[in-house]
Amino acid sequence: MDKVTHINIKKPFKDQKPGTSGLRKSTLQFQEPHYLEIFVESVLRQINNLEGSTLIVGGDGRYGNKKAIKKIIQICAAHNVGKIIITKDGFLSTPAASNLIRKRNALLGIILSASHNPGGVNGDFGIKVNISNGGPAPEKLTNQIYRCSQSLLEYKFYDFPVPDFASQGSFKIKEMFVEIIDGVEEYVSLMEKIFDLDQIGDYLQNDFSIIFDAMNAVTGPYARELFVNKIGLSENCLMNSTPLPNFGNLHPDPNLTYANKLADLLLNKRSFDFGAACDGDGDRNMILGRSCFVNPSDSLAVITANTNLIPGYKNAMTGVARSMPTSMAVDCVAKELNIPCYETPTGWKFFGNLLDSDKITICGEESFGTGSNHVREKDGLWAVLFWLQILAAKKCSVMDLMNQHWSKFGRNYYSRHDYEAIPSGIANQIYENLESLLPNLKNEKFSNSLVLDADNFSYEDPIDKTISTNQGLRIILENNSRIILRLSGTGTKGSTLRLYFEKSSLSNGKLDLNPQMALQDLITSLDDLLNISTLTKMNRPTVIT
Ligand code: G1P
Ligand code: ZN
Repeated sequence: MDKVTHINIKKPFKDQKPGTSGLRKSTLQFQEPHYLEIFVESVLRQINNLEGSTLIVGGDGRYGNKKAIKKIIQICAAHNVGKIIITKDGFLSTPAASNLIRKRNALLGIILSASHNPGGVNGDFGIKVNISNGGPAPEKLTNQIYRCSQSLLEYKFYDFPVPDFASQGSFKIKEMFVEIIDGVEEYVSLMEKIFDLDQIGDYLQNDFSIIFDAMNAVTGPYARELFVNKIGLSENCLMNSTPLPNFGNLHPDPNLTYANKLADLLLNKRSFDFGAACDGDGDRNMILGRSCFVNPSDSLAVITANTNLIPGYKNAMTGVARSMPTSMAVDCVAKELNIPCYETPTGWKFFGNLLDSDKITICGEESFGTGSNHVREKDGLWAVLFWLQILAAKKCSVMDLMNQHWSKFGRNYYSRHDYEAIPSGIANQIYENLESLLPNLKNEKFSNSLVLDADNFSYEDPIDKTISTNQGLRIILENNSRIILRLSGTGTKGSTLRLYFEKSSLSNGKLDLNPQMALQDLITSLDDLLNISTLTKMNRPTVIT
């Protein structure tokens, strides 16, 4: 007989601390008996008014996705949730999930994704909790969930075989309704409200060739609906467009290292006018032109400078925000537009209150994330459409657009160096070393300038006044250059050290330097100070953006 079953475990899981975006661990870890269940139970126990509420559950389709959805359905039924909305085959991109939470007045979203981390048995898995505004749970809630998981020794589930969800429909389990919808439709209709797809279509059908790389992950079906079915391009504009549980062994992170086939097509073979890629769960984007890579910080600045070309944002800009390590290119645009520009810690959750209170319209991070108030997540395909609409309206190439932008606003040379999966002891040593040096750096000479300030970034949320400390070590130079060092909160193996370098140049300066060359003196000075290459035994970072 079907029934609510209580399970007791012997020892609590002590390692369920959500990072920059949710709980992210190896797939193997998530397969450990009761691991996922205990975390979900911890989540549900922190939510008020859960009984009778509506939840959205879906994921990026990686290995373990469907099984996890079934378990979550059983646990939610035992907790008397009113309704769960899932999508066909459980595919739901993160921005589409955010949209659904908002549109369906859901109390909560549970997103199964490890974002841009590899998938498959040997890859990673993750769970992210989004609240009723559609955005990632704030730190206060994730801390409560973590605290609960640390001592939790039991969970309950409704023992009932959950039917498959390969097509639209509905079923009932205990008193809970499960509705299976098409995850693509509602997202695409939101895009149709924001953008003029006809204008984009006219431009793309007449001598402007594009290629979109879904990296074998969740955006394939969304991109097909948009570019093939709505805009009318041929299927050839898509690559890696079938979602696979292991992403076809790709590392679905849209950057020059992991999306190298796409980069080669645009930068070396020069085969297309425009190329773009999204990550595993569809919230990140990379934009490329023929022979032209668009740095994500520049992408945010270009988007902010051109909102008047997009039907959804005409005369609607209230302000903009960027994460602290993101370059200050967007600050120059905000100044020109006379709108406020907020600087937040790394992680999309810090934009939530600013968006909800209408203080900002657009926001972004250097890590290939851009978005707006249309949802409460960054949105990869939205950014791609935004770029295409600007190009269609201006009838120019990506490179022309970048050059026009830099000559108007100046150029912020910028690069991020990642040392991925290095031993945690080494990463901590480098971090602590810089942290201890910070108080003595002020007014000292660094590279070709003097240090104006050196600190560990902390942030007070302008709305709820929450203070977040230890958000990244900064060296700010008198000549407006910045160096930032952070430890990643999303990696699952060892530690990942991120170094960010930025140098501003005025619009009348030389604008076409290679960023690595323009930043070389900062890069060398930091290595001289911290011995990063010696300590990591790496003569170059794993990823340079
Ligand atoms: C990384 C990015 C950050 C982004 C997060 C989730 O976090 O740097 O900007 O919000 O992924 O996509 P990190 O690994 O640096 O903590
Ligand atoms: Zn992602």
